[in-house]
Parts: sequence; structure tokens; C-alpha cells
Amino acid sequence: MRAIRLHGPAGPKDLLLEEIDVPAVGAGEALVRVHAAAITRDELDWPTDRLPAIPSYELSGVVAAVAPDVDQPSVGDEVYGMTPFDRDGVAAEFARVPASVLAPKPRTLDHVQSAAIPLPALSAWQGLFDHGGLQAGERLLITGASGGVGHLALQLARVRGAEVASDGVDLVFDTAGGETLARATEALRPGGRLVSVAEEPAEGTYYLVEANRTQLDELARLADAGELHPEIDSVFPLEEAQAAFERSMARGKRGKVVLRIQ
Ligand SMILES: NC(=O)c1ccc[n+]([C@@H]2O[C@H](COP(=O)([O-])OP(=O)(O)OC[C@H]3O[C@@H](n4cnc5c(N)ncnc54)[C@H](OP(=O)(O)O)[C@@H]3O)[C@@H](O)[C@H]2O)c1
Repeated sequence: MRAIRLHGPAGPKDLLLEEIDVPAVGAGEALVRVHAAAITRDELDWPTDRLPAIPSYELSGVVAAVAPDVDQPSVGDEVYGMTPFDRDGVAAEFARVPASVLAPKPRTLDHVQSAAIPLPALSAWQGLFDHGGLQAGERLLITGASGGVGHLALQLARVRGAEVASDGVDLVFDTAGGETLARATEALRPGGRLVSVAEEPAEGTYYLVEANRTQLDELARLADAGELHPEIDSVFPLEEAQAAFERSMARGKRGKVVLRIQ
């Protein structure tokens, strides 16, 4: 199969398109024929201790095989999901993933749109609701609101009935880090909460996003109900993965960068 692999610490220029064996599934795993794989800013820094490594940790595709101990999904199911960060990702024609991270993809979205949901939407959901405790009627500031995580956080906050504001807020949800994070803390009301997905804040909560099939089911339901719209910044074929990763690191994006594979 064709796969993109990272061979060094220098970012996009260390990516190669290669021909490698289709992986065999182990216990609890599924083999997915990947139709689209989305990418995240900075992710090429994550696997530098286990090279060569296949990048991209969110996919939409069709199940091609499952291990004998897997109940769901089944072969032929259209699925989407976020895959573990500590093993090969999904920028390849086939990906071997834990079956437990897969859920039925949104019916009304295509594979490119579906692949753009799992990592940013799970990050947004867990930041706002699990770590941030956001409630209906609360005031919220989101930094980086046009980025991959930020634009979906904005939509999820509105679905929950929170009000987006710029001062006196109950919760700051930061996706940008740096100076932007420092400035945003000034918008908190006394006793307000701060959650960052981008970096460890001086005061507040930092977290790592986790796979969650129940949340993926709810996100697919919201997408099919027209309440969640993933924005696609750009789409690249697998052969142009270097350009795709360069774009993911650029400023001024609108939503996600996605590799179309089938
Ligand atoms: N902890 C976790 O589990 C987890 C999960 C997901 C993502 N992340 C991290 O969270 C961050 C956001 O992810 P994302 O996918 O939403 O990224 P993204 O699509 O690149 O969006 C980042 C947003 O922040 C804004 N921004 C402001 N200052 C920035 C700066 N100095 N550098 C870059 N962007 C800046 C960008 O807007 P403009 O370019 O228009 O200014 C953009 O809207 C990334 O660092 C990512 O690696 C962490």
C-alpha cells in the first residue's frame, strides 16, 4: 500500500511517500481502508522517538477487516475516529487501529468532512464540557476560534446554550497558547475558569484529548442534524503530503487540512 512516513525531526521535508506492506490486524483491532485523513498543526513533533512513523491521527473510511474478537464495527461499515498518538497514524491507504476508537461516520457528510471532525471536535467537547464544565447561559471566550479546534468549539458552545463574549467570562477555552492565551486570561470574571488545549497555562487546566466512542456518536448526530459543520481549509492528495503539512503549520487557516486518499 502507499503510505506517508516521517523519517526525521525536520518536519514536512522529512516526509516520504512509500510502498509498504498492508498491516495485519491484531486482537481488538480493525483494518480501515482510509478515504480521508486530517492533520493537526505541530503533530510531526510527536513521533520523533519512534521513526519512521506514519502521521495523521484521524480518519474516515470503510472497514476492510476485523480481528475475530471484535464485535463492532463490521467489515463494510463506514467509520470515523481518532487514533492513538503513540503508534503509527493513518496517512496511508490502509490503517490498523483499535476497533474501540471507531464509530459510524456522519451519514450526511462525505469522508473528507467526516475526517475533519474527530480530533478537533473531541478536543473541543472535552475542553468545554468535561474539563471546563461549561453550562447553558454561561459566558465564554474561545481563542483561535477560526482554527481546527476553535471553530468546532464555537459551534458546540452555541449548541449547549453558552454565550460567546469578550469580557467578564465564566470560561476561557484556549486553542492558541502564547501571547493570545496571556491576553485572554484578562477577560475572566473573578473565579472564572481557564482550560487550554494548546499549552500548560500558568493557572488553569491543560489536558490531552482522549478517544471516546460515545462522544463520536453524539458528534455524528449533531453533524447529521445540521448543528456541527466542520470547515475544510484545504484538501491535498497523498502525493502532496509535504505541502499539506506545511499548510497545517501556516497562520490564517480556516478549519482543517485534509489528505484525500481514495
Ligand atoms: N492537548 C491536546 O490533546 C491537543 C488536541 C488538539 C490540538 N492540540 C494543539 O492545540 C493547538 C490548536 O490546534 P488546532 O488544530 O486548532 O490548530 P490550528 O487549526 O492551527 O488553529 C490554531 C488557531 O490559533 C490561532 N493562533 C493564535 N496565535 C497563534 C500562534 N502563535 N501560532 C499558531 N496559531 C495561533 C490561529 O489563528 P490565526 O493563524 O488566524 O492567527 C488558529 O485560529 C495546536 O497547537 C495543537 O497541536 C492539542
